[in-house]
Amino acid sequence: MKPYYITTPIYYVNSDLHLGHAYTTVLADVFTRFHRLLGREAFFLTGDDEHGQKVLEAAQRAGISPKELCDRMSVRFRDLWTRLNIDYSHYIRTTDPGHVTVVQAMLQRLHDGGHLYAADYEGQYCVPCERFYTEKDLVDGGCPECHRPVELLKERNWYFRMSAFQDWLVAHIEANPDFILPHTRRNEVLGFLRQPLRDLCISRNKERMSWGIELPFDTDYVCYVWVDALLNYVSGAGLGQDGERFQSLWPADAHLIGKDILTTHCVYWPTLLKALDIEAPKSFLIHGWWLAGEQKMSKSLGNVVQPLDLIDRVGVDAFRFFLIREMVPWNDSSFSAELLVKRVNTDLANDLGNLLSRVTNLAARHFDGNLPAATGATGGGALRQAAELLVEGMEQRLERMDLYGLLEQVFGLLRLGNQWMEQCAPWKLVKTEAEAAGHVLADMAELLRLCASLLHPVMPVLCTRMLERLGAEAPARDGLCWKERGVGRIVHGDPLVPRMDEEAFLASLAPPAESTTADAPVPAAPGKTGDSSSPVGEGLIAFGDFGKVKLVAARILAAQPVKGADRVLQLSVDCGEVQARTIVAGIAADHAPESLPGRMICVVANLEPAKIRGILSQGMLLAAKGPQGLALLDPGPVPPGTPIG
Ligand code: MSP
Repeated sequence: MKPYYITTPIYYVNSDLHLGHAYTTVLADVFTRFHRLLGREAFFLTGDDEHGQKVLEAAQRAGISPKELCDRMSVRFRDLWTRLNIDYSHYIRTTDPGHVTVVQAMLQRLHDGGHLYAADYEGQYCVPCERFYTEKDLVDGGCPECHRPVELLKERNWYFRMSAFQDWLVAHIEANPDFILPHTRRNEVLGFLRQPLRDLCISRNKERMSWGIELPFDTDYVCYVWVDALLNYVSGAGLGQDGERFQSLWPADAHLIGKDILTTHCVYWPTLLKALDIEAPKSFLIHGWWLAGEQKMSKSLGNVVQPLDLIDRVGVDAFRFFLIREMVPWNDSSFSAELLVKRVNTDLANDLGNLLSRVTNLAARHFDGNLPAATGATGGGALRQAAELLVEGMEQRLERMDLYGLLEQVFGLLRLGNQWMEQCAPWKLVKTEAEAAGHVLADMAELLRLCASLLHPVMPVLCTRMLERLGAEAPARDGLCWKERGVGRIVHGDPLVPRMDEEAFLASLAPPAESTTADAPVPAAPGKTGDSSSPVGEGLIAFGDFGKVKLVAARILAAQPVKGADRVLQLSVDCGEVQARTIVAGIAADHAPESLPGRMICVVANLEPAKIRGILSQGMLLAAKGPQGLALLDPGPVPPGTPIG
């Protein structure tokens, strides 16, 4: 099998990186580590984008040469990746001589193949985005991407006959359903391709902008920064420098990108490759944005969260975990410091850390650290079964790049473990039936070992320490299953993840982090029922009565069938509160449980809890019954808990 080859975008060096950039890089790192854990060789490329107008202007502002700026920023970027424990295989800079040679060779190849032509062009140009637009593209007269003013430019330039590859690209996307993930983005690209595709301007006149790679066949021009940048994915894999490496790595398995660079990647890049006679990458994973409040976190908006600020306070592993656990990659996600504390306390300190601490404490105290074989009999085998089910579906989830779902399952498993721990109460049992208590603890320790192995790609340091406490081996492919003798001599120690004090943490952030939960007041239930005197007609309700209903946006965390009731599903739902709610909903006929985690829904949050099929349901979700069944109402990209009204 060829090595798994994954990339991140290369980041502009015009300013520092923020949490949004850190997300993509951590995500790629986690995928890489997962593939390695599964025994596959993996190559992970990241780097920085050093040419073009933005960088030139930043250097001018700083009063230094562009190369000096690049050198300084590149060191800062790599320092951040080191701090974040990013284990890249190669770091590419677009000023690397090897990359420059490849770009020039590829430009020459395009030229020789008749894929380029020179022509006069007049268009609206956005300097920061370095892109030409037509009048039609503009939004309120400004750039459709960054909304800044554009300027009318007329110049002779070189063009790539991208239009010649339009039909090929459509056919390629249609023949490869997972070429662009998620499928909503695939549809977006196909929609874009329903319009005639224009040719791509690939040059910049040196008189206007000289900070770039010179065109080998016309020295008055440098290469358009996007063409230069996209080629990093092949030059970084060894094209033109280490042919053997390139042969073994290409095509890339996954290019991870944010949704704002969809067209450049999913249209420009495959067509350029086609013209160069190089195979297309296997897939693109397009993620949403991290928002600060309602807005995209962005350097130009000045609302960024600096990763280092948080790493220093919560630790690297907790920060990595938060990024991966919190964002459903295909949606936007709001950052808030409160959410970070909640994740750390609920998932890490409680569900994971507390279970570990209880198990190691009892094992060390009553069994001298030596537990019997983990037969998996706890809960009538339920725990072991759930663990085995998770492991069985793990590779498929990874193939679909559904890391979010995988983590959701791991934490579902840990919650189940905690429930059985409570139910079996080995701390009591040990006094009367020591052997039985030993078996429960052995199952719990094995569960923790398996979860630590599965979470290792996300939190390498923390999970290594967990495995050490459990006397288990370092994570490896053959350890990713339920093992009767997976753990060794157990030792107890300090809590691995101390609970965070939310107040102290928030106070320590300067300037205070944005709160993202919309603070629009929740419609309060009036003291007396509605306004009975209001002249409402039949079938209408009084304004005040509607105000009594508390509707909130919520995210489905997990969904499972209910035994003996095939019309309902049991959902675990994040309504923005400290604890997830359970909702029993009659949606099983129209929604498979595995399609639900991550989806946003609207929930009636102040219904009196009711027992449905023996399960206490703590709310109701809203759905519209259409010809194709029940459509779940989606509140859009807002944080769980946002009031709807
Ligand atoms: N240099 C180009 C990429 C060239 S790749 C051949 C570029 N650089 S960038 O630094 O502006 O952005 C890099 C990535 O960061 C993009 O994928 C972009 O989507 C991502 N993000 C920037 N802000 C973001 C958020 N607020 N949230 C998540 N990711 C976002 O574009």
